[in-house]
Amino acid sequence: MLSPLKIENQGTVAPKWTDEVTIMRAAGIVGLGSYVPEKVLTNFDLEKLVETSDDWITTRTGIKERRVADAHETTTTMAIEAAKAALADANISAKEVDLIIVATVTPDYFFPSTACQVQHAIGSPKAAAFDLLVGCTGFVYGVVTACQFVQTGSSNCALVIGSETLTRIVDWTDRKTCVLFGDGAGAAVIAPVPDGKGLLGFDLGSDGSGGPLLKVEAIQGCCMSPSTIGLNGRPTIYMNGNEVFKFAVRVMADSTLAAVQNAGLTIDDVDLIVPHQANIRIIDAAARRLGVPMEKIVVNVDKYGNTSAASIPIAMDEAKRCGLMKEGSVVVAVGFGAGLSWSSFVMRM
Ligand SMILES: CC(C)(COP(=O)(O)OP(=O)(O)OC[C@H]1O[C@@H](n2cnc3c(N)ncnc32)[C@H](O)[C@@H]1OP(=O)(O)O)[C@@H](O)C(=O)NCCC(=O)NCCS
Repeated sequence: MLSPLKIENQGTVAPKWTDEVTIMRAAGIVGLGSYVPEKVLTNFDLEKLVETSDDWITTRTGIKERRVADAHETTTTMAIEAAKAALADANISAKEVDLIIVATVTPDYFFPSTACQVQHAIGSPKAAAFDLLVGCTGFVYGVVTACQFVQTGSSNCALVIGSETLTRIVDWTDRKTCVLFGDGAGAAVIAPVPDGKGLLGFDLGSDGSGGPLLKVEAIQGCCMSPSTIGLNGRPTIYMNGNEVFKFAVRVMADSTLAAVQNAGLTIDDVDLIVPHQANIRIIDAAARRLGVPMEKIVVNVDKYGNTSAASIPIAMDEAKRCGLMKEGSVVVAVGFGAGLSWSSFVMRM
């Protein structure tokens, strides 16, 4: 459980934090883990499903293949595996975890939350747990939120997980969307770190006026429009790809710069950028706007496609394991997506 924050209630005057919670300390990622299903769906496999080609998908998106959850794999089971891997990487017991945040747009249930199921499965009796829904930007929102709890001393060890089974909500007859998405999960452990390390700055934002550009309707028979019902009668993803593309290029660059400025740094101080993996052309265009060489940008969209809230933690975990992200590296993670929304953080690892 999180320690209750003591607030001096002063009637009409804004509440003041007590000394107990004004004590700030550095917080950052101390462990990373990920899980992707074994089953691979290549562009050549997709050629047999819809009128498309490996050449079109590769040229327009950079995606070569994506992972697809099998019947036994769900958003929850993948979240659990990623969480266990991150805890092992941090060398921290699940019993120490006091906060669990799961970012997902594809929960197995409206309720109970995925986070509560993870709490039970990994064995974290002290943990508060909730899900967070901010589309593809959810993991970064989650990390920034968890860091606030750890910085104030309200949490000592938090787990932030992004987990998605997007292949269960795509319309497999719509070539404009079904080629883009994949399944997987990634997780980070957030804990106190030495001064000067951890979260240095962030930028979170939204523009709900763009909501209709990228959506999945929720309750059948409530507000469903025929265009978003798949063949199986379930709601599926609707996206205006061209508009989302322009939005993504703009906010990926702008939000990165805003977070870097918030951290008191310049873009030249950044060692590595881990962007949401949606489309290589979005990443390329944003890198050019930022004046950052592609060697400083983590890309694995070719292997997994767009895994929404899972894409950044999977990419961070891989970057760490292959030695791209080192102790002391200044890393920016930047997300964009449904809402519309965007988010970035700057962290010294
Ligand atoms: C979806 C996306 C790849 C489409 O690429 P694009 O270059 O904009 O392509 P267009 O939508 O303009 O379509 C061009 C043509 O290719 C066709 N096309 C679309 N999907 C196709 C596919 N999978 N295979 C073959 N042809 C396809 C279109 O029907 C269109 O044909 P037409 O000119 O005869 O009408 C691109 O808009 C995109 O990546 N957008 C952002 C998506 C995203 O990142 N979303 C998630 C954000 S979190």
